[in-house]
Amino acid sequence: MGFYEQYIEKTPKSALAAKRARAIIPGGVGSAIQFWAPYPVYINDSKGSKVWDMDGNEYIDYCMCYAAMVSGHGNEIIAEAISKQAYKGALYGLPCEAATLLAEEIQRRYPCVDMIRFTQSGVESTMYAVRLARAATKKMGVLKVEGAYHGANDMLLASTGVPTDTAAGPDWMPSTIVESAGIPSGAIEHTYVVQFNHIESLEYQLKKHEGEIACFILEPCMTNGGVIPPDPGYLEAVRALTKKYNVLLIMDEVKIGARIAPGGGVEKYGIIPDLVTLAKAIGGGTPLGAFGGRRDLMEMISPLGPAVHFGTYNANPLTAEAGLACLTKVLTPEVYAEMDRLSLKYAEGLESIINRLGLPACVTIEGPLGGIQFVPEKPHTYRQANKCDKKMWSEYWYGMLCKGVIPMGSGWFEEYSISAAHSEEDIDETLNRTEDVLQTIKETI
Ligand SMILES: Cc1ncc(COP(=O)(O)O)c(C=O)c1O
Repeated sequence: MGFYEQYIEKTPKSALAAKRARAIIPGGVGSAIQFWAPYPVYINDSKGSKVWDMDGNEYIDYCMCYAAMVSGHGNEIIAEAISKQAYKGALYGLPCEAATLLAEEIQRRYPCVDMIRFTQSGVESTMYAVRLARAATKKMGVLKVEGAYHGANDMLLASTGVPTDTAAGPDWMPSTIVESAGIPSGAIEHTYVVQFNHIESLEYQLKKHEGEIACFILEPCMTNGGVIPPDPGYLEAVRALTKKYNVLLIMDEVKIGARIAPGGGVEKYGIIPDLVTLAKAIGGGTPLGAFGGRRDLMEMISPLGPAVHFGTYNANPLTAEAGLACLTKVLTPEVYAEMDRLSLKYAEGLESIINRLGLPACVTIEGPLGGIQFVPEKPHTYRQANKCDKKMWSEYWYGMLCKGVIPMGSGWFEEYSISAAHSEEDIDETLNRTEDVLQTIKETI
């Protein structure tokens, strides 16, 4: 019996839950990324590095809600902070001091953030940051990287999962490909695409659209295409070119912020953007996002300026307390060091299994994030990563599920995420199970 069939055999209660959910929720899931064929596992409980499905199967979880659960599941410090605040009220619709304290903690980690506003999610953070950049520059053009995902807002949902054929355009001038039905062509009319780690494509678009571009939104380490770190000198060249062409640089740190270092990519790579977008880790597992940066730009936000930013749930005390507990009590310097150490051990272990078995795969890593890429050479662009052997990835995915491991987010383009709750034992156990799965894959190719 193959891994796919074993998975179905192991998960009859999830099958029933999926059937019931599908009747009322499209696909039976809250977000397309939660779906895989024939149905995902439905989760009952979680604690630390583990989750349990409705059939009682235990999984060591490396998806960690797409890197958001940096504290691990059910963290007691955060649970206490949320519960204490819930009794005092979840939403006031009026300002509270916890949001100011959280803003100050983020500023401590990101000295380039003079001012900040909170949202509920990453998609809102990137949407408002781009609106602000457009308002400040009075230009409409937006540059983004091919394969980069910045949330599902209309103007940025372009070229996130480009085909490998010629429709994607040449390397130096990728096409803008709309990724959803229902997006008016006008919404992406001013969205232009460049290749990651490819300074020529950036310079080409900057020259071609000179005077039209408000901002370049960039995840300094790509995390949609597996983990693809920046090549040496790439980010420095990006900063120099954006300054030369008078284009604002927005660093999208929704996934890597407060994750790959206390001050995210800005701290790790030492490049100062004009604006930063955040979410995931800063909310301690609650729906909290933020965008911030230069004072002169942030002062353009209503009520100080003409760029509107509204939201019933903005800067609410519940998420602010959860974020504060996470950043100030859970994510200590020792925890960052330990997450990095375990991640390196995991990545080196995976690499040695791959080498031993002679599989056409490699491992990429940045701090606590990383994973197997089923391409022989480490990719530097999304295009290179997208050449991965998707069939082999699929076997790996179902194989690991059968062995009680959620190895990454549920797509070849995702990565593993080590949290504060993962242990040495988790890594050793996961490496043993991975070896079994990859050995089976090796025997079938
Ligand atoms: C880099 C990046 N930006 C933005 C988003 C969107 O965030 P959210 O899912 O909170 O809307 C994501 C989501 O994974 C992301 O990885």
